[in-house]
Amino acid sequence: MYQLGQLISDRRTINDFKTDVPPRQAILDAIELSRWVPNHHLTQPWHFYFPNQQMIEQIIELNAQLVLKAKGEQAAESKRQRWSKIPGWLVVCCNSSTDALQAKEDYAACCCNIYALSLILWQQGIGTKWTTGKVTRDDTFYDICWIDKHSQDVVGLIWYGYPSEIPQPQPRRRVEEIVTIF
Ligand SMILES: Cc1cc2nc3c(=O)[nH]c(=O)nc-3n(C[C@H](O)[C@H](O)[C@H](O)COP(=O)(O)O)c2cc1C
Repeated sequence: MYQLGQLISDRRTINDFKTDVPPRQAILDAIELSRWVPNHHLTQPWHFYFPNQQMIEQIIELNAQLVLKAKGEQAAESKRQRWSKIPGWLVVCCNSSTDALQAKEDYAACCCNIYALSLILWQQGIGTKWTTGKVTRDDTFYDICWIDKHSQDVVGLIWYGYPSEIPQPQPRRRVEEIVTIF
């Protein structure tokens, strides 16, 4: 069992996963826990979508088309290959709000939720990668996932699976640099 401090510092964003898909129930159990994150006015603005295989293939193709336009065929094919190997897919959305302050606070709460989720899963040996790439902002992405873009925003596409490689941590700024004590 991890100590909390070690869990926080050891968790890494995972780029390379083993092929086996973690049980859906493990993610659902983690979502049950992550609902307890702080959330102003308890708006509970999050929604979690598990795309099916057909949707995943459509997302991969949409991304490949975006990469094709920006970087050409070779880069697109490379992404297609890479994304096809990702074992677990989860899309996390935040309910939209016309009130700017509420929208900001709801987004913050969703970020807390995703981070809690990633720690809970890490504790069980399941790694995640939180992505906000261009594809997640594309109208077609919303259509593929049956998300109403007028009522929800994608906060992250979360890939999950068992890490095949854990990257070295990127250094953080020293506490003295980021703290001001008056
Ligand atoms: C809101 C958010 C969006 C992110 N989007 C991406 C992304 O699109 N592509 C990516 O490679 N990593 C993305 N990341 C992961 C960060 O790059 C990663 O957390 C950072 O490099 C630190 O690595 P670590 O999580 O292993 O400590 C995102 C993280 C957050 C919080």
